[in-house]
Amino acid sequence: MTTANTWTPTGDDLAAAYARHADSLRGALRHALVTRALLTHLPAAPQHVVDVGGGAGHQAIALARAGHTVTVIDPDAAMLQRAADALNAEGDEVAARVTLRQGFGEHARDILGDEPADAVCCHGVLMYVDDPAPLLGALVDTVRPGGLISVLVKNRAALAMRPGLEGRWADALAVIDQATETGGLGLPSRADDLDTIQRTLAAAGAVTEAWYGVRVFTDHLGNTPVGADFDQILAAEWAAGARDPYRSVARLFHLIARRSA
Ligand SMILES: C[S@@+](CC[C@H](N)C(=O)[O-])C[C@H]1O[C@@H](n2cnc3c(N)ncnc32)[C@H](O)[C@@H]1O
Repeated sequence: MTTANTWTPTGDDLAAAYARHADSLRGALRHALVTRALLTHLPAAPQHVVDVGGGAGHQAIALARAGHTVTVIDPDAAMLQRAADALNAEGDEVAARVTLRQGFGEHARDILGDEPADAVCCHGVLMYVDDPAPLLGALVDTVRPGGLISVLVKNRAALAMRPGLEGRWADALAVIDQATETGGLGLPSRADDLDTIQRTLAAAGAVTEAWYGVRVFTDHLGNTPVGADFDQILAAEWAAGARDPYRSVARLFHLIARRSA
């Protein structure tokens, strides 16, 4: 099977750019908010989680620190090398809970073999594939009935918010009716509608359990570093991301679904 994929592995430059983003306030908030939601919906007992497009391992390490076992599947060797380096900096117990596999998410079930996972994550990946349906279908197939599916998606309804709040009026107007833009990593990427993703997941056999907005108040802050007020910002973002109307204008939406029994 071939995969239409606009994330063309380009080696360490892109991985380095993503690492810089992940260390900024915006990147750190995104990971903290998504982890908080995941730990809210996952049982406390150790689960086997597959992180499709898990990249440099941020989510995998957060889940492994909470006691879960994680298999990262990602096609990009430079991202996986970053994940391996990050795991080397962890204690043995946490590092032993994470396995890195090179490959595309569309093939996740074949890569994993017969045993379905308890949960699958796919965060910040759908925006780089031409058609989200095959990847979403593969995510549902990867988990057991009742298993959790977690997707983090660029929010089409709010695409003009970032340029608008940054005062880039021409850019805001240009994307207000669009689904694609060039994002912070300099790659073309697509935003999706919440309804479309929910309908596609439903067609594949999964039902929405909850959804959150990610980065309501902070998406226009560029590369602002993490500061002493991080916990306060996180609390405000978490509260806004869980309720209307705020969550609707967040940069990303985090959808939690369950595979039907
Ligand atoms: C922006 S990074 C996000 C990394 C990670 N999920 C996170 O939230 O930090 C996007 C990742 O998706 C991976 N990717 C792109 N297309 C993919 C596909 N079809 N299957 C699996 N991973 C893919 C890339 O290699 C890259 O590591």
